[in-house]
Formats: sequence, C-alpha cells, structure tokens
Amino acid sequence: MVNLGPRKPPSRKGSMADVPKDLLHTISILEKKFTVDKEMLKKITDHFVEELRKGLSKEGGSIPMNVTWVMDWPTGKEKGAYLALDMGGTNFRVAEITLDGNRGFDVTQSKYLMPKNLKVGSKDDLFDYIADCVGKFLSSSHPGETIKNISLGFTFSYPCTQPAINRGILQTWTKGFDIDDVEGHDVAPMLESALRKKGLPISVTALINDTTGTLVASNYVDPQTKMGLIFGTGCNAAYYERFCNIPKLEGLLPNDQNISPNDYMAINCEWGAFDNEHKILPRTEWDISIDNESPRPGQQCFEKMISGYYLGEILRKVLCDLYDEETIFEGRNIESLRKPYSLDASFLSQIEEDPWENLTEVESLFLNKLGIFVTESERKLIRRLAELIGTRSARLSACGVAAIIKQIDMQSGHCGADGSVFNKYPHFKARMAEALSEIFEWSSKSYKSHPITVIPAEDGSGVGAALIAALTVNRIEQGKYIGQREV
Ligand code: GLC
Repeated sequence: MVNLGPRKPPSRKGSMADVPKDLLHTISILEKKFTVDKEMLKKITDHFVEELRKGLSKEGGSIPMNVTWVMDWPTGKEKGAYLALDMGGTNFRVAEITLDGNRGFDVTQSKYLMPKNLKVGSKDDLFDYIADCVGKFLSSSHPGETIKNISLGFTFSYPCTQPAINRGILQTWTKGFDIDDVEGHDVAPMLESALRKKGLPISVTALINDTTGTLVASNYVDPQTKMGLIFGTGCNAAYYERFCNIPKLEGLLPNDQNISPNDYMAINCEWGAFDNEHKILPRTEWDISIDNESPRPGQQCFEKMISGYYLGEILRKVLCDLYDEETIFEGRNIESLRKPYSLDASFLSQIEEDPWENLTEVESLFLNKLGIFVTESERKLIRRLAELIGTRSARLSACGVAAIIKQIDMQSGHCGADGSVFNKYPHFKARMAEALSEIFEWSSKSYKSHPITVIPAEDGSGVGAALIAALTVNRIEQGKYIGQREV
C-alpha cells in the first residue's frame, strides 16, 4: 500500500511567534493570494468539467482533448520486445521493453540529459541528437546487429493533433521548448528521417503522450486504474472516453468499422491549457508576469500555476518583489536571484523539507546556492511562501482529477500518477488527497480508504509506449482502424 503521509499536512503556524509584525502582515497577504479554499475548489472543478466537454465538442475549447487512436484497453497478454523513446522535458530516454504476456515486463534502458540549448535550438539538432542516443543505445545492447524490424513507441510529450496513431502534428511547444519549424508539422517523419541518416531504418509504430502511456501501463498492472496523470515539469492527464461523448469524432471514422457508441478512445486532455481565457483561476500578479514573459504568452495557464517547470520561478519572482519593496533582504546583494528560472522545484522541496524549527537548512541553501544571508524571520516567511506555492499546486491539480472523475462518473478505483512533483515534492500527495476529499465531501479519516486514490503509476513512457505499440500491431494485424495513416 502507498503511504500517503499524515491525514493533514503539518501546519507550521506555531513557529511564527517571533516573526516581526510587518513580516506577519506580508505573510497574511501572501496567504490570501495563494490560498484556494474549498468553495473555490468546487467552482474550479465544475468549470473544468464544462471545459473538458467543450474540448470534446466539434467547436472545441481551450483544452485540446486530443484523440489518440488508442482504442483498446491492455489485456495483460501483450507479448514481445519493443523499442521505446521518451522525449518529455529534462531527460531523453531510450528503452527496450520485453512484455511477458502475463502482466509482467523487463526493461533495459539508458537516460541522456537533454542539453538546455537543444530546447531552443534547431529541429535538426534536436532530432539528430535523439537519433544519436538511439544509435548508441542499440549498438551497446545489440552489438553488430542491424535493427529494423522492431516496433517503436515514441513518447513525445507535447500537445499533438493525431490524424493516426503513428502521427503527431505539434500544436504548440510547452515546458519552455521553443524550436522553429516544428509547430504545425508531423514529428514522426522528423524522427524517422534522423534515424535513417544514422543507418537505423526504424519507423514509428505509435506516437504517444506520457499521460496516455501512464494510463495504459498502470491499467496493465492494475485494471482498477482509470486515469493517467503527470505532475512533473509539465502537468496533464489522459483517460478513456466513450465514443458517444466525443462529438468531434463524427465523420472521422470509416463506416465499415463497426464501432459502438460505448467503445472507448483514450483522450490526451492537455489540461495545462485549462482557463487560458482567464475565467476562473485565481491568478496572482506573479502568475501573470510568468505568462507574459514566457515564449508562448496566453497558453498553458493552468500548467504555469502548477507544474515543476514554474514553481521555482513563482517563488523567485515573489522574493524579488519583496526585496524591491524593502520587505526582506534589506542591504543585501540579490543579483543571483535576478536570473529568470534560476530556481527549480527541488529548491522549494528543500525549503519545505527543512526539519529544524529555526530553518538552518534554508539558511545554508540560500547561502550556498545564491550567496544570500537570510535572517530567521525571513526564513520563516520563505518557508510559508514555499508551502503556499506547493499547496496551491496540489489543490489546483486535484480540480483536474476531480473533473475527470465527474466526467466519467468514476465511483471508485485508482488514478496512476507520475512525475517529479508527484514523486518528490513533500506533502504533494497528501495535499492533493485532502483537496479531493473536500471537493467530494469524503468523510473517511484516512486517505487510503477514500473511494478513489491517486497512486504512483507504472512507467508510462517506457512500458506504456511498448504496450501501445503492441496494441497497435495487433489492430493492424486484425485490419482494425488506427486513424488515417497517409496524408
Ligand atoms: C505538458 C505537455 C503535455 C505533457 C505534460 C507532462 O503539459 O504539453 O503533453 O503530457 O507536459 O509531461
């Protein structure tokens, strides 16, 4: 069983006794700006459900609700060896997955850091780098062999329009990527041609999102899992929707396919785009400035308040403003803090993890990383601020989960979640479970006995990608539709 921590995340308010009045005043202003109370959680969730439905409609909405052409649930009997590539943000991963036909699997993999310059460089540099990593992996795992007949699951975790399961037209870069000539184009041929140049004639069997992979991999090992969630550099969800609830599919299916309205299609929500039109989310001035200064202003508004890529930046911006209005760090040099995106989510995690009442670890963190001495009262303010940012992230995330629960009328079961924020950020799981219990008025004392729990997922971009490749091969063999394959 998963340990979700204490029933309520610990409150550290008692330790504020020695903090001077002006700082306490600042803290209470920050609390107002960052707190999302129960009523607001419910309102956001209801609006979220409407937006999910709009995304499924013919007219569309700001949440893309991308159709994935994953139309089967895994049976557990999938078998064979598959190649999986995962391009999602911080790392690039190549894996060979062997499915054993009995809900088990074996993984051999290598991870490569995605150099920062590639995220804003040219498309050829990006895909050549990826092909290079694949070449290195295959020559060490299959020395001397020419690999061509292996099915490839390519996890490309950005919003894509998928005319077919092996195609993905990038809608917009997210998570700080900004590479010209990719948006509006199919990325599968870009990968295939880079692989061919390296003498690796492998084609993409299935192009998938990390959330869809997480959904399928988690359902494979635990059929109670109905949702795949990522809370990492970005945030997003996938679930299986019934055809009768996807009006935008009308006319896209050949007549001979015999699909019943109750059959399923996995939907990659791309919910980072929730509320791009600013109707409901309580944005602070720092959220607004992060959005304005980002490569894609007006996009991914929900993600920019929640996901790991932005959490450190929110903290940094608040601290710089508090310095500029002479509330903290008076007389000290804060140049190191002026650099955009110089703090990441692990910086906040470390602040929240400091076990000492006088926060000596926060003191060392600021001294070592930024060269700034921070007084004890300032440390308490910073800790409270980190707690507010982290809590808001978990509570807003819960609204998305709750919206899908309502949309599919889920009464019980599991949601599989992955990503650095979910796995590593202190109290994230407990805070999210607390928010879900507020939204649904679940009364049970322990999170474990809630009817629906969010639990750590199986490896979506490895095992999930392999499974989806396996399901696709199966469909092709049976002459079933996998979308429109040729343009
Ligand atoms: C971003 C991407 C989305 C991905 C998520 C988590 O939101 O747009 O495709 O699933 O990050 O990696």
